[in-house]
Amino acid sequence: MKGLALGPARTEPASNQSLIIWLFSIFFVVSSLFLWISEYELNVTIRPFSSHSSPLNSTEKEFTLNRCRYARATPGPPPGFQSRKISDRFVQGTPAVLIRNATIWNGLRNGTEVIEGDVLLDGGVVKALGYVPDALLDDLRGDLVIENANGAWVTPGIVDLHSHIAAAPSPGLSGAQDTNSRKSPINPWLRIVDGLNTHDETYELSIAGGVTSVQVLPGSANSIGGLGAFIKLRQTPERTTFSKLLEPPYELNGTHFDHTFTPRWRHMKHACGENPRRVYSQNRMDSAWGFREAYDSARKIKEAQDAYCDAAEAGSWKALGTWPESLQWETLIDVLRGKVKLSVHCYEAVDLDMIVRLTHEFQFPVASFHHAGETYLVPDRLKQAWGGAPAIALFASNFRKKREAYRGSEFAPRILSEHGIPVVMKSDHPVINSRLLQNEAALAHYFGLHPALALSSITSTPADAAGLGHRIGRISEGYDADLVIWDSHPLSLGATPKQVFIDGIAQLENPHVSHKPASFQKYPRPPNFDKEAADTVKYEGLPPLKPSRKEGRIAFVNVRSFYDRSEEGVSELISFPLPDVGVTEVTAETGGEVVVEHGEIICYGLQRGSCLASNQLYDEIVDLAGGSISPALITFGTSLGLSEIRLEPVTNDGPVYDPFIGNGIPSVLKDRVIAASDGLQFGGRNTLLAYRGGVTTAISSPSGSFLRGISTAFNTGADHALEPGAIVKDTVALHVSVSPHFTPSVSSQIAALKTLLLDDPVREWKDVLDGVIPLIVHTDNADIMASIIRLKAYVEDEAGSNLQISFAGAQEAHLIAKEIGEAGVGVIIYPVSPFPHYWDGRRILPGPPITRSTAIVNLLQNNVTVAIGVTDEYLARHTGFELTRAVLETDGFINKKQALSLVTTNIEKLFGLEAGSDLVAYRGGEYSDLSGVPVAILSKKGGFVDLM
Ligand SMILES: *[C@@H]1O[C@H](CO)[C@@H](O)[C@H](O)[C@H]1NC(C)=O
Ligand SMILES: *[C@@H]1O[C@H](CO)[C@@H](O)[C@H](O)[C@H]1NC(C)=O
Ligand SMILES: *[C@@H]1O[C@H](CO)[C@@H](O)[C@H](O)[C@H]1NC(C)=O
Ligand SMILES: *[C@@H]1O[C@H](CO)[C@@H](O)[C@H](O)[C@H]1NC(C)=O
Ligand SMILES: *[C@@H]1O[C@H](CO)[C@@H](O)[C@H](O)[C@H]1NC(C)=O
Repeated sequence: MKGLALGPARTEPASNQSLIIWLFSIFFVVSSLFLWISEYELNVTIRPFSSHSSPLNSTEKEFTLNRCRYARATPGPPPGFQSRKISDRFVQGTPAVLIRNATIWNGLRNGTEVIEGDVLLDGGVVKALGYVPDALLDDLRGDLVIENANGAWVTPGIVDLHSHIAAAPSPGLSGAQDTNSRKSPINPWLRIVDGLNTHDETYELSIAGGVTSVQVLPGSANSIGGLGAFIKLRQTPERTTFSKLLEPPYELNGTHFDHTFTPRWRHMKHACGENPRRVYSQNRMDSAWGFREAYDSARKIKEAQDAYCDAAEAGSWKALGTWPESLQWETLIDVLRGKVKLSVHCYEAVDLDMIVRLTHEFQFPVASFHHAGETYLVPDRLKQAWGGAPAIALFASNFRKKREAYRGSEFAPRILSEHGIPVVMKSDHPVINSRLLQNEAALAHYFGLHPALALSSITSTPADAAGLGHRIGRISEGYDADLVIWDSHPLSLGATPKQVFIDGIAQLENPHVSHKPASFQKYPRPPNFDKEAADTVKYEGLPPLKPSRKEGRIAFVNVRSFYDRSEEGVSELISFPLPDVGVTEVTAETGGEVVVEHGEIICYGLQRGSCLASNQLYDEIVDLAGGSISPALITFGTSLGLSEIRLEPVTNDGPVYDPFIGNGIPSVLKDRVIAASDGLQFGGRNTLLAYRGGVTTAISSPSGSFLRGISTAFNTGADHALEPGAIVKDTVALHVSVSPHFTPSVSSQIAALKTLLLDDPVREWKDVLDGVIPLIVHTDNADIMASIIRLKAYVEDEAGSNLQISFAGAQEAHLIAKEIGEAGVGVIIYPVSPFPHYWDGRRILPGPPITRSTAIVNLLQNNVTVAIGVTDEYLARHTGFELTRAVLETDGFINKKQALSLVTTNIEKLFGLEAGSDLVAYRGGEYSDLSGVPVAILSKKGGFVDLM
């Protein structure tokens, strides 16, 4: 057999002129390197029997047979792996560690096994688990460190199946964004390992969230993005990319490796749907053909290889010819050989269906579908994939940003698991900060995923899906010594590592441990969402979200706590003096009662019978099952009400003109400032979900770059702007963003502010100058905040006025907390879990376990009025959870009474809103735990109760 006709090489065509220039350059480079090249060639192993006709000698025959065996072998651990005493990743000098008295969730027996006992780590592996006999301690490799867990929860280190850590390192700068190739949609020959930066602040931050191993994938702009890589996050003594790789495939060394080895798994990324469509202006049919054409090229070579190996194995050496191979297609050939764990980014049923067809046409398995928004609607089709149903890697509730994600559901993890399909929660870091992957599992559990599967979804299930389940994702003898000691139950809100081990090496130096409420040590009992989950399937992802409105008399029984606002405008707790019962059922005898008429509370009492009288009629009696009533929350920080599907312009109000760009602001707008209230849309899914989540007021400002416009406050449950109470306050604040991401300079933007405020200010600018409405400056950067504080003093001095200013975002505010306090400037912080996404916001205060303090604590200590917001419309519904995570991190600095003010009264104060009066009733828990669910909104102003 002679050389093979391969598919067309996908390089860009060179014009004749550039070809000539290219040839000339090559000539000079080649001639100058000639000496070096000849030296180099001396060291290269001559490839055996390439295109010679003489018969093969015995060494060559053995090599050939080994290569064929290797080509056809299934990857996996080498023989004897499970009984290893020392890890290939062991770092000399690492002491053995004995963790005593732990509550160990080990990931075994489908995630149902919990052991109370000890764990011994030695040689980078788990040496013993449960009862550790003293005799074992005698033959350790070196010193022994003893860690007393005092009963704390211990789990395997978190495995993130989908991350772009190190390929898109933080803080994000344009010089190191190596996730997507812009050259062509099909790139099986690219390897993410070539772009893995060794400096990424995420390594340390994600370890602080308990993440120990991640699959780094290429981006999704390409249909075939290339090979992914599996890494461990710890710093290595070598400081190299290579030393971070976990079981690196031998193919990374080219084709000249020992073919008697058991192959290791390779990892690859594919993507379908909107991303490759958007970037390469190809439609879904083009994408599908791109895949088929590529796989056809690979298949032809694979078939030739198989024929070659059949001949060799039959001893037909004479006719053998040359080993058919192609550096371009060899990775896809390995996909066809079932040697690659394929991760396919794919949302909609139409795309999933296409990939399932592709797997049958070319006969290869898919390891996991990612994002996979509609997988829960087509579980049977997933099971028809060649080789069986892939694992499904999901976000907990990050949906609706794109059209193809619109039908994504928080109930997908539970629905898929009920169909027996493995579920993985993943970060897609930096889309979700991978430090918060635990939070994704906790939310999946909240929305109904079985606790054993929820913990497995970030440990053993992703490890299995990546072909690494023989060494990571579980705690068992012979497994890698990767584990986390938690400060609370690993499915509780805000669970934080007390210590993290990777390869037996403790990762946190002097970790700060917050003290969690006792109830957080227990498994959080989630609400029952059976009806919601069933409705989600029935309505194909778009179940109706409008609650039912009642105006009459409603009674709430079995109420455990009731918080309301006090005279001073600070949320005050009026709590029934019941013990902190944790997950214990509150019986009808002990539960309190609250009676509401026309949305207003007319009676509340501690005991059964204190309000409810048998001779009264109620339109509804709502059993809160030990739940709670507390003030409704306010959301700020997103385009809620102005944006429904972010990436679909017609679903949004759209961006405002930038005075600095193009021809500036068109004359038809004169000097008018754009008002968000003119672009409001009601009834959007994120908006209604916020309402159902107890977040009844939203403040949104127009989107834009520097000059944004006037924000508005609106009711998230309203049907339209003309409904009474729909617009809570039309003109709230004037918003600007000051940022080095915009043109022109930051100093020009500040200069423009001086002009707008001091040179005959008009309209709302005059109101800002007069202190009638606040100026909200969106920035993360402490230097910009300092400039604004100087500007405030300067303008106030010039105009003799008093400006109301707040910073929004404000990730670096803690650096000048004292000065912000002295200047009387407010701060709305978001996200509450800081992350150095950008250079101008990189100086974060990470909080426990890395630092004791958090930005919120620093600011409050300096008497700054602090509120918190969220960064994304889908998160508005989780404002209570976000608040709780922030409050838990303050280790008691913020008490329960003060906590609510960060999302109620403090926001009202900073934005000049009247005190709200909506209340929310939660069944089974409070706004602050993963047991409660809002079941009613009590609107005193509207005179109604909305029942979910
Ligand atoms: C077999 O041939 C290779 C060259 O293809 C040579 O390097 C090797 O020494 C030979 N081995 C034997 C045992 O003759
Ligand atoms: C784990 O779950 C699988 C699939 O549901 C089942 O076949 C298996 O028997 C279970 N294993 C154990 C140890 O429970
Ligand atoms: C383990 O820790 C718990 C919690 O601190 C404690 O109550 C218990 O006595 C400890 N058990 C042992 C065997 O030390
Ligand atoms: C590649 O070769 C080097 C040097 O022989 C070796 O240290 C390394 O482990 C090999 N890598 C792989 C992935 O096989
Ligand atoms: C904050 O306010 C309190 C009470 O008014 C005062 O005692 C304290 O000194 C203030 N702290 C700072 C840092 O200004």
